[in-house]
Amino acid sequence: MSDSSGSYSSLYRKEKKKIDRILQKAFFKREPVSLYKPVTYILDSEGKRLRPLLVLLSCMAVGGKFHSAYNAAAAVEMLHNFTLVHDDIMDNATKRRNKVTLHIKYDYNTALLVGDSLLAVAYEYLLKDCDGNAKFILSSFTKGLVEVCEGQKMDMEFETKKNVNISEYLLMIKKKTAAMAEMCCKIGAALGGGSKQQKNALGNFGLNLGIAFQIQDDLLDITAEETEFGKKIGGDLMEGKKTFLFIRALEESRGSDREMLLKVIKNKGIRSNQVKKYKAIYKKLGVIQDAKDEIKYYTKKALNSLKMIDEEPGKMLHWLAESLLKRTR
Ligand code: IPE
Ligand code: IPE
Ligand code: MG
Ligand code: MG
Ligand code: MG
Repeated sequence: MSDSSGSYSSLYRKEKKKIDRILQKAFFKREPVSLYKPVTYILDSEGKRLRPLLVLLSCMAVGGKFHSAYNAAAAVEMLHNFTLVHDDIMDNATKRRNKVTLHIKYDYNTALLVGDSLLAVAYEYLLKDCDGNAKFILSSFTKGLVEVCEGQKMDMEFETKKNVNISEYLLMIKKKTAAMAEMCCKIGAALGGGSKQQKNALGNFGLNLGIAFQIQDDLLDITAEETEFGKKIGGDLMEGKKTFLFIRALEESRGSDREMLLKVIKNKGIRSNQVKKYKAIYKKLGVIQDAKDEIKYYTKKALNSLKMIDEEPGKMLHWLAESLLKRTR
């Protein structure tokens, strides 16, 4: 793995640049400027472009060529950015990708419309790559989106619910985050001409990778460096989110720790100057380690699905899953 990892990261950077260019071109010279300037504000910010990479690498994993999947890759990134802009409204977030969130930079109505527009153009781009596969690709994409909406509503519902258990949490993150990663891999596999079995194996890979990814996002929300992560540290606690860490902490806590945790629910979140106290409670209860173990477990599960895929073309997905374990943003 180590000798090829350098070439994989340079290939990632190269493909990321290509995706960035397609995204820029997609909104170039469109009018009105008052809509497309804010669209560009979110698309030009430093996203990792992981979902497009999943499309491209899944296409490659079944023996396909990247060029048959670039428009679809751009489409999933547009869809993702749409969910981010609306997510930041729902989560009262002030910072994303180290920039002021779009609804604050502009206004709420603009942010709603930027989301709508990103979604519409996402379909426009997806359709460009759909020849021969249209039904499978469009229905997978649509299913992914329906699940994001369901997961996002569950996420908000959980904010005020006292007893959310880990299995409810897992269903919520499968929908809000993992379903989209699953969809990216399935679409990539379809565009590469993969068999039903290959599409399912790669879909499973994406699903489990997505679960690991969201648990890690929950973990980074409390352990990351703010300038690296690009989002406000402790944002989940400030909103009273039922993250993996919060649910596990509530399960493990007694006495004053438990009272502190219950306060988060009762007061619908905490102030930013209290985040450190909660981080200390998480550490003491061992839930930071629990999250790390869980991330490894789901990453391993993802990697297991790759056994159904030819080794050589699937190697970069393997590399990606392993590298994500070390991510700081
Ligand atoms: C953030 O996704 C939303 C989650 C599902 C956790 P990313 O961490 O992939 O965000 P960007 O696109 O790199 O900014
Ligand atoms: C991801 O959950 C939700 C999406 C589907 C966009 P989060 O709300 O945790 O994502 P971040 O942390 O704001 O990026
Ligand atoms: Mg959210
Ligand atoms: Mg959020
Ligand atoms: Mg988060």
